[in-house]
Amino acid sequence: MNTGIRTALITGANRGIGLELTKQLTAKGYFVFMGVRDASKGAKALQFLEFPERAAVVELDVNDPVSVHRAVKEIGQASESLQILVNNAGVMNEDFMKDSTTGIAMEKLKKTFDTNFFGLVELTNSVLPLLLKSGEASILNISSNMGSLQLHSRQEPLARTFAYNASKAAVNMYTIHLANALRDQQVRVNAVHPGWVKTDMGSEYAPLEVNEAVGPLVDFLLQKDAPTGKFMFQGQEVEW
Ligand SMILES: NC(=O)c1ccc[n+]([C@@H]2O[C@H](COP(=O)([O-])OP(=O)(O)OC[C@H]3O[C@@H](n4cnc5c(N)ncnc54)[C@H](OP(=O)(O)O)[C@@H]3O)[C@@H](O)[C@H]2O)c1
Repeated sequence: MNTGIRTALITGANRGIGLELTKQLTAKGYFVFMGVRDASKGAKALQFLEFPERAAVVELDVNDPVSVHRAVKEIGQASESLQILVNNAGVMNEDFMKDSTTGIAMEKLKKTFDTNFFGLVELTNSVLPLLLKSGEASILNISSNMGSLQLHSRQEPLARTFAYNASKAAVNMYTIHLANALRDQQVRVNAVHPGWVKTDMGSEYAPLEVNEAVGPLVDFLLQKDAPTGKFMFQGQEVEW
């Protein structure tokens, strides 16, 4: 790949917020490595892009360390550095309408953390050398206001999906740790709440169309003087 092309890796890029991020970043001239669990779903997703030549599908299951390391190697062979990592892949294994706190099955709790937290940390650490090579990089963790300890402690009316919320709170803590660890190395690390978005996870009842939700995320990612160690929603800080 030509040097000088700006590159991004987006996990869970075959649908929902990840696919829309791919659309919007490729439209802005980025080359996007689309992390997908299933290559055939990735091939279908490419058809939705206006500039498919600015994207490559990379098989990447964040729960599988072998897949993570293979994907990072593949990206490293195609590009000498990465400017952007968007940790977007996520799962919610609970019923949005029920409080799962007292009856949570340990398997469900662990499965949620495997994808939303452990997989995210493993991928980020693996891809960090490529991000550092770019000289100025940005990591965006797609979190949720449902991971906000402060909002929950005030009993704001957020869904009581305990495993999901706890996993996103852990992502938020990781965001702060990583931002502090990389503060002097030109890597910005932030968490964002995308809003309640019409996707498979967000459901048809969500108020935000996916393009409306993703526009502000891309603006924030590409903002020249963007901060680090923040939790943002549409240009405003969210309480941790
Ligand atoms: N939608 C909302 O209202 C909302 C609100 C707040 C935060 N978020 C967050 O936004 C992010 C994207 O959500 P979405 O609404 O776009 O959800 P979605 O439509 O359900 O898409 C989830 C994506 O994650 C991928 N994924 C799941 N497990 C994975 C794994 N182990 N490895 C790699 N990829 C995996 C899925 O791939 P497959 O197709 O292979 O399953 C899919 O591409 C998530 O982190 C979510 O928590 C969403």
